[in-house]
Order: sequence, then structure tokens, then C-alpha cells
Amino acid sequence: MLYKFHPAVIVRAEEKASMFFQKKIADTTLVSFEAIDAFLEHFKSKEDIPKELLHHFITRGYLIPARNKSEQKQDLELLEEIREQAKIRKSPLNSLYAPETIHFSLTNACNQKCIGCFYSRGEVEEEKYLDSSMFESITKKANELQVFQYALGGGEPLLHENIVEFCYLSTESNIIPNITTNGNLFTKELAKEFKQAKLGQIQFSLNGSEETINKDTRPNFKKTMNAIKIAREANLRWGINFLVTKRNISDVPAMILLANKLGAETLNFLRIKPPIAEGNTWVQNESLSSHEHLKLHEMLKNQSSITRLTVDASFCFLFNHLSSEEMYSRGMWGCAAAQRFCTISPFGHVLACSHMHHHWDVENGDFDKAWRESKVFQKFRELNSTITGPCSSCSIKPTCKGCRAVVELITDDFWASDTQCPKNNNQ
Ligand SMILES: C[S@@+](CC[C@H](N)C(=O)[O-])C[C@H]1O[C@@H](n2cnc3c(N)ncnc32)[C@H](O)[C@@H]1O
Ligand code: SF4
Ligand code: SF4
Repeated sequence: MLYKFHPAVIVRAEEKASMFFQKKIADTTLVSFEAIDAFLEHFKSKEDIPKELLHHFITRGYLIPARNKSEQKQDLELLEEIREQAKIRKSPLNSLYAPETIHFSLTNACNQKCIGCFYSRGEVEEEKYLDSSMFESITKKANELQVFQYALGGGEPLLHENIVEFCYLSTESNIIPNITTNGNLFTKELAKEFKQAKLGQIQFSLNGSEETINKDTRPNFKKTMNAIKIAREANLRWGINFLVTKRNISDVPAMILLANKLGAETLNFLRIKPPIAEGNTWVQNESLSSHEHLKLHEMLKNQSSITRLTVDASFCFLFNHLSSEEMYSRGMWGCAAAQRFCTISPFGHVLACSHMHHHWDVENGDFDKAWRESKVFQKFRELNSTITGPCSSCSIKPTCKGCRAVVELITDDFWASDTQCPKNNNQ
């Protein structure tokens, strides 16, 4: 059988490796030199692709059948070039050559107040919207460095008057734009615009399958459900963000059913990070206990779901029964701040992590400079050797490392272990 790469696949050279991106499902896979050679052998002399590699690349939509050798010619030339570039590329410690995703907080303004919000609540001292000219210069650089996608959030990103133009500009620059929104301002007209601008995915935040549960943390159940209806009718790819708390954990199975019933592409479970208003006690009171973390893991493991169930990187400790290698192969990298992604604030500050907005040392949206020179980024990248306590000897440290935002809030020590990890905490 002959294979070629799907037309929606983009390949970028890394240091002694390459990064594959499947645009249609927003999936990334890091491919070693050996794997590149296996593909080259297949394209040159029809050698079989090793079974595991083939399985991964077919199931994730990177490879499709080719009718003849001439259909493979383009991929052969591309991979030969990538291999040459990969030999000389230099990446910062433990990091990709450039971010695969840039998160943008397009504004700190918001049109509602959610309990526990980590960034806005519409209560900021100075409302700020990211400058369009800064977005343009960032996108020019991101295009040069082959950044794969943008995650546009906030505050509430639909409040930014240039949101549609930003999507067009991203797509024209070969970067897939994605949006996370509360949905309040989403209309049929906007859905049509986003469709035309080739938005990758729109993610709606919903913390309960019913109004009574959602209202514990978010005030806009009906508006979000209406926004979902609009997205479905416009045939946009859409998903749900569900922030898991002590109060709504029992709603997880119902949420999975609802997401499947409505046809969500993904249902993404978020772990609680420090809020701007409620403080330490809210995190401690609402975060899951060890027992509840195990329960969440069971719920996710045993569910059959067409909607893809995903967890945010800081929930990696739920999968501590896997080896780091198995986690990598399932696309779990743990905290990848400054290693795979970075965040740009509406003020142009370049952050390693969106949840640690006071930690930055590069401004004007110069993410390339931050990627190569930031001391803050270096601190995150060195964690594998500088982390202290139980995490330092954990078998999955390379693919987990806990959550620095939570750790710093609770222990006041950036390098400490994650006290909420079910392995470190028996409560
Ligand atoms: C800050 S909001 C910005 C986008 C938009 N306003 C919205 O609500 O979807 C981005 C995501 O962060 C989630 N979030 C809010 N507070 C959080 C917290 N304390 N910890 C973790 N995630 C949180 C929201 O549920 C939402 O899915
Ligand atoms: S979570 Fe989103 S909608 Fe809620 S207050 Fe924060 S920014 Fe606004
Ligand atoms: S001990 Fe630390 S590194 Fe290991 S699973 Fe727990 S949080 Fe992750």
C-alpha cells in the first residue's frame, strides 16, 4: 500500500526532528529523525512504514492512500528539505523551535462576571484592547516561523472590534484562528463571517449541563445554549470548555451526553487556576480532592463518546498510571508553557502562562524575542531539573510537572510540588 500526506498537513523543521500539524483536527505530532527516515524510505523505495507510526498517522488523519508513486513526489521533496533544515535548527532548552500555538488575551474587558474568573470579571482598573497594528506585526512573524494556530480569548474576545479581521489575517497567514467565548455576543451574522474567515474552532464555556448547575459559576446558560445553536446551524466546528469544581463534578456524565447530543467536536475539562477575585480559599474549597480526581479519571475513562474528550495540560496527573512515553504518544505534554506555547496580553506583554499574568519580561508582543531570550521562559523550561519535593522524583515528571499557577498560589514557591496531585495528597 502506498501513502501520501493529507493536504491539510503542515510540516515544520525542529532541532533534530520535525513537527507535523493536521489542520483539520488541530492535532500536532513531534516526529523524530528516525521516523522522518522511515517516511523517506517509504516514498523512495516503497519500504513499509513501521506499524505503530502508520497506525498513529492514519488514525489522526495525517496519511491517506496514494494511487501511485508520482503522488508521493511532493511529500518526498518536502521531507528531504525538512530533514536538511532539522540538522541545523537550534531550539531553546526543552522547547520547540517556535511556539506551535500563541494564546492571545485580546482584551481584559468582559460583559459578565463569572465566579472564579482568572482574568477579567469586567472589573479591571484599565480596559485594554490589543492594538491591531501589534496583532499584524505578531502575525507577520508568526507566519515566518510557521506558528500553527492562535487561541483567541480574553476577557471576552468578541468585544474586540477587530475580531473578524484578526481571523481573516490569521488564515491568510497560514495560522488557524480559534476562539474561546462566553457566547453572549455571538450572532448568525458573526457565525457567517467566522465561517468565511475559516475559523478553526469556536469554544463555548459552559460549567453545567443545566442552568441550575451552570449558574453556580456562570450567569449565562441560555445565551451560551443559543450561541451553540447558532454555531451548529452555521456548520462551524465548535466545542465546550467545562471548568470542573467540587459542585459540578457529578454533572460530568450528563455534560458528556449533552456534548454528544449536540454534536460538539471536543469537550475540554479545565482544572481550577487562581481567580483574580476569590483568592486562595476559593481554589482550596472548589478544587477536587484526591478521591474526586480519581472519580473524574474513572468518568472520563469509561465513557464512550464521539465528542473528543480532552483535559487541560494541568490535569495530566490524572493519567499518572501511564509512562511518559505513552503520554507523549497520546499528545499529553503536561505544562508546556514556554515550551510549546506562549501568551500575549492586551498590553503586549509576552507571558509563558496565561494564568501567571504578572510574570513577563518582554513586551510589544515580541514573542520571538521572548522565546529566545526571556528569563521567565527559561524558569519554566528548567523545571524538569529544578522542581523540588515529590514531583522531582516522579516517573512522569517530564510530561507533567504539575501546575505552576496553582503551586505558586498555594505554596508561594514557584519550584514546589503540586499539592493537589492525587499522588502527593491523600485528602
Ligand atoms: C477567561 S475565559 C476567556 C474567554 C471567554 N470570556 C469565556 O468565558 O469563555 C477562558 C476560559 O477560562 C475558563 N476559566 C475561567 N476562570 C477560570 C479559572 N479560575 N481556572 C481555570 N479556568 C478558568 C473559562 O471557563 C473559559 O473557558
Ligand atoms: S470567564 Fe470569560 S465570561 Fe467569565 S468573567 Fe472571565 S472572561 Fe468574562
Ligand atoms: S507528582 Fe508531580 S509530576 Fe508526578 S503526577 Fe503528580 S504533579 Fe505530576
